[in-house]
Amino acid sequence: MKWKQIGHVVVVNEDLDDVSNFLKIPGVNTVVKVGNINGKTRKPDVKLLHGNQTETIHKENKCFFKLDVSRVMWSKGNTVERMRIARLVEEGEIVVDMFAGIGYFSVPVAVHSNLKKLYSIEINPEAFYYLNENIILNKIESKVETFLGDSMDMAPYLSADRVLMGYIGNTQDYLKPAMDCVKGGGVIHYHETVPEKIMSKRPIERIEKAAGERNVGIIRQRIIKKYSPGVVHVVVDAKIE
Ligand SMILES: C[S@@+](CC[C@H](N)C(=O)[O-])C[C@H]1O[C@@H](n2cnc3c(N)ncnc32)[C@H](O)[C@@H]1O
Repeated sequence: MKWKQIGHVVVVNEDLDDVSNFLKIPGVNTVVKVGNINGKTRKPDVKLLHGNQTETIHKENKCFFKLDVSRVMWSKGNTVERMRIARLVEEGEIVVDMFAGIGYFSVPVAVHSNLKKLYSIEINPEAFYYLNENIILNKIESKVETFLGDSMDMAPYLSADRVLMGYIGNTQDYLKPAMDCVKGGGVIHYHETVPEKIMSKRPIERIEKAAGERNVGIIRQRIIKKYSPGVVHVVVDAKIE
């Protein structure tokens, strides 16, 4: 059984008869089972095991994330990556977050960097609601502008020094709008789930294909986490000239 604490809620991945051990953790008052995370909008499949307060505020790296665990997802495995990206952002940058969610990357990037502007795009109205709440909660209103909609349509209208592509699924389909958005000399952070055997090849080939005539410099590739047997979630940092 796997479990994680998100604010005052404990999330487990299977049915349990006895949740008393979790209720001994200071502050915990709700235990939920979260099954599959479904579809493009990453809506979780949830069953209440104890309590009913599924909206909570989770604290990570001096950032506050308000969310309802029954409505939107939270990936603990991406904690290091969220802070890594925040540290890469340089003073005066314009950043586009194509898959903002509740602010998983947008919040730490705006809190911990001195960027000029962050444009955060989110397609799911429930996640968008929490994104806007979290911008207020973290006092980053002056740095962030949010858009409710599809980044496929919106990203090409923006121009950025850095494009965050923190979504796994058919992320490769969004490489073209990301290329339309990233300035010459800018960086994209492209996420993909890929069989380990082809992890050093396929994501890079996809980036190069989408870049067309533009030069691509691979800065770094890192494994974020194991996704399923033989499959890893990777991120590639690529400079696009
Ligand atoms: C899975 S979350 C990101 C999780 C994040 N990587 C983390 O650190 O936990 C991705 C978000 O992208 C949103 N999304 C998916 N497709 C989108 C699209 N075409 N345009 C904008 N947002 C989209 C989903 O609704 C979801 O909130």
